[in-house]
Amino acid sequence: MNGAHEIEALVRRVVEQVLAGSGERRPLAAANWKMNHTSIEAAAFLEALDPGDSSCDIWIAPPATLLPGMKAIIERRNLPVTLCAQDVHEKENGAHTGEISAAMLKDAGAEAVLVGHSERREQGEGAERLQAKAEQAAAHGLRILYCIGESEAEYSAGLTKQVLARQLEAVRNIPANLLDIAYEPVWAIGTGRAAGKEDAQEIHAFIRLEVQRHFPDQSGAVRIVYGGSVKPENASGYADGADIDGALVGGASLHAESFQSIIHAFQKKGGSGG
Ligand code: 13P
Repeated sequence: MNGAHEIEALVRRVVEQVLAGSGERRPLAAANWKMNHTSIEAAAFLEALDPGDSSCDIWIAPPATLLPGMKAIIERRNLPVTLCAQDVHEKENGAHTGEISAAMLKDAGAEAVLVGHSERREQGEGAERLQAKAEQAAAHGLRILYCIGESEAEYSAGLTKQVLARQLEAVRNIPANLLDIAYEPVWAIGTGRAAGKEDAQEIHAFIRLEVQRHFPDQSGAVRIVYGGSVKPENASGYADGADIDGALVGGASLHAESFQSIIHAFQKKGGSGG
């Protein structure tokens, strides 16, 4: 336990809450490592990472096995990095072989968790289960980065907004101050076929309206980040979007240098650098 780190995390949370109350949102650059990296690779990544200024939140979602080791490095180097789990089980504990509970994730160093990533939805996780997972995470005070996105077929059929509105229902009961949304069109994930920045902005504006409908008094707290083939080359285009508060990055987050460039694009949005 490192006292300075705990205090810094507390100050960050208070600043987040104040900003949320004022309707301002801090940009968020989040790395989803998926099933990549061992402890040696994760340590090398953190040693190489230059987080830049403090105008953008930086989250990393590593495989759960890496959480405690990364937590120790983050504390030692006093890095402004929040650890995020990639998934959580909906039950408190019990006979669920291979699963990891919200309490265990917190114990291992996570402060946030992804819920509803399309790669989990593909494993059969539907609305009811995702709602239970989000509620379980919230009950333990974990922040939730709830992932939504339409499939290629839904996109082609013009059903994007309908699909997103339906997917958002699962987080209706989550306190807005624990919730962020990642819009990840399934056809853009890992394909190199990123959504156009104007198209992404239009969809984010739609999601923003839905979020305002769900949380009339608190919607300012909820960030909406884009995910799907975000790279250093296209990140600033997304950062220009008024309703695009950050990025959830897969492939390009695996190397410190490329993830850093994406963080930097959103730091400019957060008020530094110009
Ligand atoms: P890519 O950035 O590799 O397309 O992955 C996006 C993603 O799924 C992040 O959660």
